[in-house]
Amino acid sequence: MIGFPRVHHRLTDSTNERAKELAAAGAPHGTLVTADEQTAGRGRQGRVWTAPPRSALLMSVVLRQLDERLPLTAAVALCHALPTEAAIKWPNDVWIGRRKVAGILVEGRPQEGWAVLGIGANVTTERFPAELADSATSLRLAGIEAGTETVLAQLLRSLDEWLGAPAERVLDAWRERDALKGERVRWAGGEGVADGIDDSGALRVETAAGLVHLDAGEVHLLR
Ligand code: BTN
Repeated sequence: MIGFPRVHHRLTDSTNERAKELAAAGAPHGTLVTADEQTAGRGRQGRVWTAPPRSALLMSVVLRQLDERLPLTAAVALCHALPTEAAIKWPNDVWIGRRKVAGILVEGRPQEGWAVLGIGANVTTERFPAELADSATSLRLAGIEAGTETVLAQLLRSLDEWLGAPAERVLDAWRERDALKGERVRWAGGEGVADGIDDSGALRVETAAGLVHLDAGEVHLLR
């Protein structure tokens, strides 16, 4: 079951770091690490993840049943857990409106049979650093009052359901929440119109030179 055993830290550098240590030491599938505050929270693409103490759900889960679609599945599970309409910006940012409310960082050692699924979700955050002020939101700013433990409980239930779901169901659910479909996007290598994901989870983009499939990296919505 996802969420047991659970280790909670009032303060730690990164719940992903703690969960990776536990995984390397043999912690079972489903082991959960949470924190009130992180001093070195990490995001995708080498970014930092910051949140004021106790304002965000900060969690990492050790997984031993590996699936290459895990980052997509986690985004679907997260959308289903939130008490509001949410969309996914490829590959796995979760948006309310056009603002990011939650992010996912998967790290692991497939050769050792484990991965760590890290999730940060802004719950009661009211202010963001200037550079995020136009792009980030929280459940509270979206008008939803919930505590981090309530969101966690919902999310654990949702992960239990979605991590075992067949690939077609996950892909369908992801595609229903695709925030970029039909939108103009830019990435380090070019620009075009997003056209959903293929069955491997790569983003399809129609460019002037034809269809390209992006299997990693970051795209930006041209607003
Ligand atoms: C992203 O959007 O770039 C991913 C953000 C993931 C942040 C979470 S917070 C809990 C866990 N611990 C970390 O250091 N990172 C993830």
